[in-house]
Amino acid sequence: MADGDWAVVTRDLRKTYRGRPAVDGLDLRVPARGVHGFLGPNGSGKTTTIRMLLGLVRADSGRMRIFGRSVPRSLPEVVDRVGAIVESPKFLPSFSGRRNLDLLAQAIDAPRGSVDDVLERTAMRERAGEPYRGYSLGMKQRLAIAATLLKNPDLLIFDEPSMSKAGWACSLILRGSRSRSKPRSRCASTPVAVRRTSSLPRRTVARRTTQNRSVR
Ligand SMILES: Nc1ncnc2c1ncn2[C@@H]1O[C@H](COP(=O)(O)OP(=O)(O)OP(=O)(O)O)[C@@H](O)[C@H]1O
Ligand SMILES: [Mg+2]
Repeated sequence: MADGDWAVVTRDLRKTYRGRPAVDGLDLRVPARGVHGFLGPNGSGKTTTIRMLLGLVRADSGRMRIFGRSVPRSLPEVVDRVGAIVESPKFLPSFSGRRNLDLLAQAIDAPRGSVDDVLERTAMRERAGEPYRGYSLGMKQRLAIAATLLKNPDLLIFDEPSMSKAGWACSLILRGSRSRSKPRSRCASTPVAVRRTSSLPRRTVARRTTQNRSVR
């Protein structure tokens, strides 16, 4: 496979915090199709890896590519194709879900109708007029997913082990994506999503050993 056929590639990726390796020579390959889970025990470096890929944390050494582009150097070239939920999304609590999304849509110049579309796809349309602060956890998570979908990304990354609906979310997003102009989104996620996505069309699991080596 050519470099561009992989959504994500890492080679010998390393990061150490205060002398303790958080990511210790990670080789990861995520094909540019399907739903993929990134497995590993607590503290094994999943979040750190995602943060390095997104340029939120600097790697000590190693190479990373997203859609064939070297990151973080070429992140600006691919950032529009990537949606991620890594930390708790920041929404304005007194504004409605819809208003929050409207503001985001304006900020990224999303096409007209995008907000309605993502509200529909995340099953949030009915409650979209209510203030964000009154949403349940699951609704807040759906709104976060809706926000990432606004730019219609080719790659979605969820780093949310407690997001019990991650599998549901991937399924929903993939169903929604089929009717759109782009091919379906790739969805990388933490273990919960993997267990719950067995009915999805394609599934590849990136497993990590205790040495942080990944195999497909
Ligand atoms: N900012 C930081 N400062 C110091 N150590 C950190 C920092 N971020 C992560 N670590 C350490 O790096 C290691 C990997 O953490 P990371 O959050 O990447 O794990 P994880 O696989 O995402 O775990 P979990 O499944 O609990 O989310 C852990 O030992 C953690 O304590
Ligand atoms: Mg984590």
